[in-house]
Parts: sequence; structure tokens; C-alpha cells
Amino acid sequence: MSKVRLGVLISGRGSNMKAIVEACKNKSIPAEVKIVISNKKNALGLELAESYGIETKYINSKDYPSKEAYEAAITSVLDVHNVELTCLAGYMKVLGPKFIQKHQGKLINIHPSLLPAFKGLDAQKQAFEYGVKIAGCSVHFVDETVDGGTIIMQDIVHVTDTDTLDSMTNNILKKEHILYPKAINWVIENHIKRGTK
Ligand code: GRF
Repeated sequence: MSKVRLGVLISGRGSNMKAIVEACKNKSIPAEVKIVISNKKNALGLELAESYGIETKYINSKDYPSKEAYEAAITSVLDVHNVELTCLAGYMKVLGPKFIQKHQGKLINIHPSLLPAFKGLDAQKQAFEYGVKIAGCSVHFVDETVDGGTIIMQDIVHVTDTDTLDSMTNNILKKEHILYPKAINWVIENHIKRGTK
């Protein structure tokens, strides 16, 4: 099977993007990251992607007259690269219905909580302050509800009495880096697998 073409959308440091790129490179997933798109010019993840020789694109929403036009520009870039699966990895903007409908089933996200608990921003802080003893992360299909699409995979971390918000967040992040490639594999296997090319 030829490699599945991935696009990754980021807004920040890109550690999940890196985990995906590394998993592609060491062949734990039969895929290749073709394009990394950021809505933030100075996202560290852009430099990181470039250091791997991956094409990157900064798309500024302010350059477009509407959210729909901005997201159409993202779709165009994904299309130019024939992206088959788009992975949100710390992409901090809520996507509009048109974009989501167009990419439905081929658009996934990672969220640092055990969904459906603690949706939205600062999920780790929400969980920590709630006092959970088991935290975790989820990879899910993106639908029109924020962090609400069908869950693909989850993993847990135990929160002990000595944990701080930082240590718990780090423990979750380590799990994210393992979970995201695994979940991508599952999606490729179950939704995208094609004949030998
Ligand atoms: C991760 O915690 C991810 O779950 C959330 O945003 C963070 C992105 O981190 N959606 P990074 O940019 O992948 O390092």
C-alpha cells in the first residue's frame, strides 16, 4: 500500500505533530506528513516540521474576509497536497461546519482529557482542579460539536497525591505522543485503507 498522505494543523509547539512525523519515519504508521499548516506565524511547530524537510504553510485568518473563506484556504492547501487524513494537533481555533462537513471522517483531533469529561480549553487544569484520580487523553473524529465527535482511542494516567498540574500535564502529554500515532493507524486501517498502488 502506498503511504497515506497526512496533513497536520497546529497552532503551537507541535510535539504531537513531531510524534506523528517520527511514527511515519520509523514506519509504525504507513503514512507520510505532506503538509503542516499553522494559523500562528511563530508556531514553534513550523520550524520543527521544516527541520524534518516537511512543507509548511502559515495561513492567517485575518487575511480572509470570513471564517469560511479562511477555512476554504486551508482546504485548498490540503487538496493541493492530496491529503487523505487531517490531524489537528494543538490547533487552537474552532472549525466551522462547512470545513468539518467537507472533511468528515477524515479529520481527527487529540484532546488532553478523558472525553466526554473536560471539553474545551485548559482541560488538564479542569481535571486537576476537579481532583480526578485518573486523567488521560482522547483521539476523536471531529464533528460540529467542540471535542464531541466519536472517540477513536483513549489512554489514562493515574494522578497521585504528589502530582502537580505540571507533572500531570506532562504525564498526559507523554501518553498523547503514543496514542496519536496508534489512533492514526486505526483510522488508516479502518477508514482509509486502499488497494496496493
Ligand atoms: C496537546 O495537549 C493536545 O492534546 C492539545 O493541545 C496540545 C498541543 O500540544 N489539543 P503540542 O503542540 O502537540 O505540543
